[in-house]
Amino acid sequence: MAKTIIIHETGAPEVMRLVDIDVGAPAADEVLIRHTAIGVNFIDIYFRSGLYPAPLPSGLGKEGAGVVEAVGSGVTDFKVGDRVAYCNGQLGAYGEMRLIPAEFLVRIPDGIDDETAAAAMLKGLTVQYLFRRTYRLAAGETFLFHAAAGGVGLIACQWAKALGAVMIGTVGSDEKAALAQAHGCAHVINYRKGNFVERVKEITQGKGVGVVYDSVGKDTFPHSLDCLKPRGLWVSFGNASGAVPLLEINLLALKGSLFMTRPTLFDYIAEREDFLRMTKELFDLILAGKIKAAPQHRFALKDAAKAHRLLETRQATGAVVLLP
Ligand SMILES: NC(=O)c1ccc[n+]([C@@H]2O[C@H](COP(=O)([O-])OP(=O)(O)OC[C@H]3O[C@@H](n4cnc5c(N)ncnc54)[C@H](OP(=O)(O)O)[C@@H]3O)[C@@H](O)[C@H]2O)c1
Repeated sequence: MAKTIIIHETGAPEVMRLVDIDVGAPAADEVLIRHTAIGVNFIDIYFRSGLYPAPLPSGLGKEGAGVVEAVGSGVTDFKVGDRVAYCNGQLGAYGEMRLIPAEFLVRIPDGIDDETAAAAMLKGLTVQYLFRRTYRLAAGETFLFHAAAGGVGLIACQWAKALGAVMIGTVGSDEKAALAQAHGCAHVINYRKGNFVERVKEITQGKGVGVVYDSVGKDTFPHSLDCLKPRGLWVSFGNASGAVPLLEINLLALKGSLFMTRPTLFDYIAEREDFLRMTKELFDLILAGKIKAAPQHRFALKDAAKAHRLLETRQATGAVVLLP
């Protein structure tokens, strides 16, 4: 039996219940993992709250690290005792143990601890595709990134610095501003204190930026569009403040022939080759000391509700993990 978080209804953090389940034995293509650390991501809150639908009852969580306990008969790439991590597959990472298809796993290199792997995989691969694939940031290029002191945000600050790109980051407090700056964000704006569009215009001498990465959603729409140069790209990749309202397509013309995309990591890692290449890029940056991604907050698995509350009330900085 394994302790696992299950939701029977969507709603506040209290809908998460810790129960004992029989995990079972791996199917031919699966691996049984004993988790050592579980990544907490904002997407877990969307599933818990009901913003994103999931058939109920449901597990929660997309990301974990741990040790292989058993492998299915068809699994050749992994063996019992391997240290592995993942950030894809069915919901169900919030538990002591789980089954998962081997195709979603990667071996954690020596030199990266399990907590860091669980904290960095989903968020780091997100930064990889945003900066290298959705829009390829160039050295010296100035761009805007919202929620710069969050889990994805602190990795973005460091990845931008590693690329030599000039990040303008928004944050919700002065403490978060100091943290983002310390992680390599070149210009930080506390968007609770002032108008971020005006500040972006000042920093770019009126020109605007070529790309805005926006995971805040409702509260930064449509102002993010006003930060773009003509023909700039608005990357709407999350909705921490609520869903973005329906958009009149003509708005993109009115604001300068803009482009927009609404990407999700799972489409960028659907091919195993891409997943492995992106993960290697992330792990190499961590091993080289260019990205520090250890979690800033740790909770026991049974306290998952506390972890969610911290994240959704904007009190978290960097990554949050659960420890089974
Ligand atoms: N599409 C994808 O592929 C993908 C993948 C990973 C993550 N994401 C998205 O990226 C974002 C960051 O994820 P994360 O797990 O690293 O979370 P996070 O950034 O650690 O937390 C979300 C942050 O959003 C900001 N925020 C602004 N308004 C908010 C509000 N009303 N309520 C709550 N937060 C608010 C807060 O920072 P301030 O206080 O500084 O404003 C908060 O700390 C999320 O929107 C997530 O869905 C998307």
